[in-house]
Amino acid sequence: MTKPIGFFDSGVGGTSIWKEVHQLLPSEDTIYLADSANAPYGARSKEEILRLSIKNTEILLKHDCKLIVVACNTATTNAIAYLRVNYQVPFIGIEPAIKPAALQTNTKKVGILATKGTLSSSLFFGTSKMFAAGIEVLEQEGTGLVELIEAGKVNSDETKELLKTYLQPMLDEGIDHLVLGCTHYPYLIPVLRQIVPNTVVIIDSGEAVARQTKAILEQNGLLASLRPSQHTFFSNAEFTVLEQLVGGGNTTVKFLQF
Ligand code: SIN
Repeated sequence: MTKPIGFFDSGVGGTSIWKEVHQLLPSEDTIYLADSANAPYGARSKEEILRLSIKNTEILLKHDCKLIVVACNTATTNAIAYLRVNYQVPFIGIEPAIKPAALQTNTKKVGILATKGTLSSSLFFGTSKMFAAGIEVLEQEGTGLVELIEAGKVNSDETKELLKTYLQPMLDEGIDHLVLGCTHYPYLIPVLRQIVPNTVVIIDSGEAVARQTKAILEQNGLLASLRPSQHTFFSNAEFTVLEQLVGGGNTTVKFLQF
C-alpha cells in the first residue's frame, strides 16, 4: 500500500506548497495539517515553534506518512534540524529563495519579506551569508500578513495598505527581486503585482520544493505509481478559507478537525 506524503504549516499558507507538489506528483496521497489555532508561528519563540513542529510531526507519523514537507518557513528555519535528527522519515523544508534571487539580480539589491521567526533564525543568516555575498539583502518582517491571509482577507484594502508600507522602502532602494519567505505569501501575488512594478521579479519556493520532494521520493524508492490520489486536510480552526484554497478540482479531498 502506498503511504501518504505529510505536510504541516501554521495554517493555510502551506497549501501553496501542497499545490505545487500535487501538480508535480498527482498520484501521491497527501495529508495536510493546518495548525491555524496556533498561527502565526512567526512571532513565537524558537522553543514554542519546536514544540508545535514536534506535535505536528507526531500526528502525521500516526497517519503513516512516508515523507514530511515542513510547509512553513518559520518551522523549517527553527525546527527542521531537530526533526531530521530525531525522526526516521525524510523531511523537506522551505527556505527563502535567496540563492536564485542573488544569482539573477542586476541591481545587486534583493528584498525579502518573511516572518520575524525566519529572519532572526541562524539558518536564514547562514543562507544569506553563503549565497548572497556582495548582494544587499533588504529584509522586511511581514507582521500581520499571516493573520489577514488566515482570515481570508487577501484582497482587502488593509492587506494592500500594509504591503505598500512594507515594500515601498525597498522599492525606493532599487530592489529588482522580491523573495517571498513565508508559504502564506504566494497568495498575495495578485495584490503584490498591483504594488510592485513588473521590473521586479517575485520569487517563491514552491516549484523548487516540489522538485526536491520528487527527487527524495525517487532516491528512497517511495514514489507512488500512476493512480487516482486521496487528500485529507486536518485543521484545528474553521475550514472556510482552507476549502476555498484547495477545494474543487477533480481530486478527492476530505476535511477533518484535529
Ligand atoms: C507564520 O506562521 O508566522 C508564517 C509561516 C511561515 O513562515 O511560512
